[in-house]
Amino acid sequence: MACLAACAADDAPAPDFPRDYTATFAEVRDCRRSGDHDLHFIRILADPVGLAAYRDRTAFPAGAIVVKEEYDFTDGACAGAILQWTSMVKLAEPGDDTVRTWHWQRVDAARTVVEEDTPRCLGCHAQCGGPPDGHDGTCATP
Ligand code: HEC
Repeated sequence: MACLAACAADDAPAPDFPRDYTATFAEVRDCRRSGDHDLHFIRILADPVGLAAYRDRTAFPAGAIVVKEEYDFTDGACAGAILQWTSMVKLAEPGDDTVRTWHWQRVDAARTVVEEDTPRCLGCHAQCGGPPDGHDGTCATP
């Protein structure tokens, strides 16, 4: 039984962002209520590759990672436990700014990937469109 559990864990996809991402990722959007993700309070961080692109609204380089932390709907300071993450990783070089050039994940509090590249992620983010709200697949104004 132990082997079964271990083997299943080995086959599972890994989160696209490291466990200690807060050591290197920077906050690009501070704690506030999400307009869309189940009315959770959220905080958005970008890795060093994606930071300037998120802040300056320039094209994201390949490898850029953007992570959204979701907190309880009563946690207005984003100070308590993280309920789940959504993340997006830029797969292609700048120039093609469609939502398909990102890899999408939803990751639960135990860092299990529970959703990957699902149509609802791509569909909703595609509708964010261009400025002021949408930028290269992202949906928030920094
Ligand atoms: C109903 C529309 C909707 C759906 C579905 C949705 N998102 Fe979002 N997403 C948003 C909006 C709006 C934001 C901007 C911040 C906010 O208000 O939550 C956002 C923000 C994000 C961010 C932070 C970067 C940014 O500024 O856009 C990530 C990462 C993200 N979503 C990933 C995902 C993933 C992964 C899925 C699927 C599991 C998903 N989203 C599904 C609307 C949506």
